[in-house]
Amino acid sequence: MENMQNVKIIGTGSYIPRKILTNNDLEKIVDTNNEWIITRTGISERHIAEDNETTSDLSYRAALEAIKDANIKPEEIDLIIVATNSPDMIFPSTACLVQEKIKAINAATFDLQAGCTGFVYGMITAWQFIASGFYNNALIIGAETLSKFIDWTDRNTCVLFGDGAGAVILKANEVEGILSGFLKGDGTGADLIKLPAGASKIPASHETVEQRLHYIKMKGNEVFKVAVREMKRSTVKALTKCNLTVKDVDCLIPHQANIRIISAVAKVLGLRKDKFFVNLDKYGNTSAASVAIALNEAIKEGKIKNGDIVVLTAFGAGLTCGSIVFRWNK
Ligand code: ACO
Repeated sequence: MENMQNVKIIGTGSYIPRKILTNNDLEKIVDTNNEWIITRTGISERHIAEDNETTSDLSYRAALEAIKDANIKPEEIDLIIVATNSPDMIFPSTACLVQEKIKAINAATFDLQAGCTGFVYGMITAWQFIASGFYNNALIIGAETLSKFIDWTDRNTCVLFGDGAGAVILKANEVEGILSGFLKGDGTGADLIKLPAGASKIPASHETVEQRLHYIKMKGNEVFKVAVREMKRSTVKALTKCNLTVKDVDCLIPHQANIRIISAVAKVLGLRKDKFFVNLDKYGNTSAASVAIALNEAIKEGKIKNGDIVVLTAFGAGLTCGSIVFRWNK
């Protein structure tokens, strides 16, 4: 690692679609109630993309804010990674569509799918490209329009998810930024969260539509236990790799899936709850966008100060989990 470049965040952005769906609105669609959703998940409302609004549209708006914040020109961007589970199409990649929209004419582009951990995977991937000297900078976006893949008759899933996008720009730098990271996959849990049909295993047919196989299926309470264990494990692993401990953490931004998962992670880590940044009450689980949106909000709301040690940690479909540690130096 001695010859590696320092890499830091030079800009962040996010975009949330305007339309709000409250718990009370959901009461009119499925057999649920505001009290159940708040006490079991911590979610009050979520934002839903318009019918004609796609993941690349949300990505575009988050990217514009990050580009402005970073004070760079789109043509200077070397690499665009879009982490998503709800791409505009299976192919071409959403990253290519974003590249065209922002006119990043010199950028390489690819999508990255790692469930809700996608943005952390994307940041660590881009970090390696820049640290090795292969690229000078990268735009990493976490974006979802999962509302289009939700079964609005299934109360087990439809109350949980929301739409949105977050973005960061990483750049080679003199000063210390990203310090370490940890990533893991576990295909033995592939059945716990999935969207079964529409790809090579179960191509789309009349039957798959009738059987509602084009929607997210999740065994929520099994995911819950794994989420707590793996977010703790990956946070500790990433901190240990850069000779830090939980006591050094100033701000921990966890995947925003469920307030009870976040509280349990705080407990098992022994980290005060006020060190956790939480915004899931407003947005629900925005999957690969969740940590990216939270990071932008934490920075812009002044919750992260110069010199702070920040950890992003996530888990999700795959199963996957991962954490990244950085020192905030704007
Ligand atoms: N309204 C009212 N009741 C409900 C609802 C609802 N919306 N949803 C479920 N229930 C009922 C169930 O039917 C069940 O009733 P029963 O006891 O009569 O059978 C009861 O509530 C309890 O259900 P559980 O599933 O045990 O509830 P739990 O406390 O585990 O909460 C939840 C469910 C919120 C899904 C939780 O398990 C969770 O958050 N899991 C993690 C999910 C997650 O984080 N996924 C992230 C990855 S997503 C990705 O990668 C794309």
